[in-house]
Amino acid sequence: MNAHADGTVPPPNPVPRGFSDRLRQIRYRAALAYCRLWRAAGGPDYVDEITYWEGILSQRPSSLFDRRVREAAFPPELRECAAELQRDDLRLPRLLELGSGPVSILASGIDEGLFTVVAVDPLARPYRYLLRLYGVTYPIQPLPGRGETLLKQFIPASFDIAYSSNALDHTRSPRRCLEQMCQVLRPGGFLLLEGFVREGTHGNWSGLHQHDLLTEHGSLTHLDRAGRQTNLTADLPLTCVSERVCQFKDRGIGAFGYEVTADMPPDPPWNYHDWYTLLLRRL
Ligand SMILES: C[S@@+](CC[C@H](N)C(=O)[O-])C[C@H]1O[C@@H](n2cnc3c(N)ncnc32)[C@H](O)[C@@H]1O
Repeated sequence: MNAHADGTVPPPNPVPRGFSDRLRQIRYRAALAYCRLWRAAGGPDYVDEITYWEGILSQRPSSLFDRRVREAAFPPELRECAAELQRDDLRLPRLLELGSGPVSILASGIDEGLFTVVAVDPLARPYRYLLRLYGVTYPIQPLPGRGETLLKQFIPASFDIAYSSNALDHTRSPRRCLEQMCQVLRPGGFLLLEGFVREGTHGNWSGLHQHDLLTEHGSLTHLDRAGRQTNLTADLPLTCVSERVCQFKDRGIGAFGYEVTADMPPDPPWNYHDWYTLLLRRL
């Protein structure tokens, strides 16, 4: 077993296949079959998303467990928000993450004790089976749930920070998700949104890539496939704190599903796509 330079140790290889591993396989395959049926019935196309993550997790990339990789991926804005919130309150801030995937990029926030995280993802169950199947233990485990229905799961104003990375544009209704995130966020809390600019266009409007999002003058703008434009944040009780756009390669995320795998060119085009970061404050 190799220790990373900073002393963190990747987990041991998965134990040899036994009854419990076979059971996990069966559960995972059943979840995948259910998603296929759902897609055939006109539901969201989750199959590509799950199989993508299976490709990543089956390689058990050691970078996932490297503290320096986690720190580099962690959004710097969140460190500042956590510090400000802790100046006014002794308890740890409570953060809600929407669409975390199986390996949230917020792991460093847990390593550093910055906040507690509740993550929500509609694919939380298949992700849990996959993580167990490949022997990956991770500090953030999502709960099953959808951004559009957060109020069915959580009390209004019960979070200090709400966060989403590269997931709003994978949802059925980014606008509905934002409304719900606003409602579960307490006044004075922070909303941090980040992701690829115009992911619908980059993803050829296939699968879950059905929305183009971009930041403009402190707001989040939505464009549909026909180019119709809507300001998603204008009439919500939010004010802009900061806004920035950089190329993805300069954002600092080197793992967590963004690794360059053997079937990709060494410098994939998505490295050069624009990436927005929008920090808003709940009024
Ligand atoms: C590309 S992954 C992003 C994962 C992670 N946040 C990141 O930045 O790597 C998009 C995630 O959004 C989730 N998702 C899809 N629809 C959603 C919805 N309605 N509500 C919340 N999350 C959703 C998917 O299941 C998937 O895990």
